Amino acid sequence: MTDKNSNLIFLVGHKVVLRPFSRADIPTLTCWINDPDVREFIGSVLPQTEKQEEEWFNKLGSNDQNIVLGVETKDGVLIGSMGIHQINWRDRICTTGALIGEKDYWGKGYGTDAKMLLLDYIFNTLNLNKVCSAVIVYNKRSLHYSLHCGYKVEGRRKNHVFRKGRYWTLIELGLFKEDWLSIWKNYKKTGKIK
Ligand SMILES: CC(C)(COP(=O)(O)OP(=O)(O)OC[C@H]1O[C@@H](n2cnc3c(N)ncnc32)[C@H](O)[C@@H]1OP(=O)(O)O)[C@@H](O)C(=O)NCCC(=O)NCCS
Repeated sequence: MTDKNSNLIFLVGHKVVLRPFSRADIPTLTCWINDPDVREFIGSVLPQTEKQEEEWFNKLGSNDQNIVLGVETKDGVLIGSMGIHQINWRDRICTTGALIGEKDYWGKGYGTDAKMLLLDYIFNTLNLNKVCSAVIVYNKRSLHYSLHCGYKVEGRRKNHVFRKGRYWTLIELGLFKEDWLSIWKNYKKTGKIK
């Protein structure tokens, strides 16, 4: 856990700020990505060295298809990351990925606040029109918070992901700007979805 009270701020929400990563964050990122409790929910299955994380870090900002931001609590604790990926500027579509790496912070609304902030940036600054995401069927927390933020189930890829000795369905989610704006109007004011 990084407790750095960084002055680096990019987006400000109710519970978190989103900010660019810095080189000093690499050891924390390496811990999260290797943690079995975190890995079971995301795409990463191979061990990641600090050097590999550094190479990933060095590529951040090198193209206009991916944007990754760190999630920090208001009192300066780095707890996770939020990513915008595969940005297609012609179709105005992208995918999002989320990771709260500090497990003590799961289920306390930090992910929702970070995601709503990211969606505001995606829709109201980058002017994208649709956001996609995918959740392994056993990731109930992620499915719940995604639906909470306005994503809708668009389809199910049967037996698409191999984990824990068997195949699992991948749930494909989509969210259109026009459907999200009313959720945002209330969230922006109150910090609550409903
Ligand atoms: C998924 C993740 C980003 C969500 O962030 P978070 O801060 O934990 O989520 P929030 O607290 O904002 O929202 C979680 C919601 O799910 C609910 N929830 C928590 N555990 C749950 C469970 N086991 N089953 C169903 N719902 C659950 C919470 O009650 C909350 O809903 P509410 O706001 O209606 O009460 C975070 O948990 C995480 O990074 N997990 C590990 C990696 C991961 O799964 N990444 C996403 C891959 S698709």
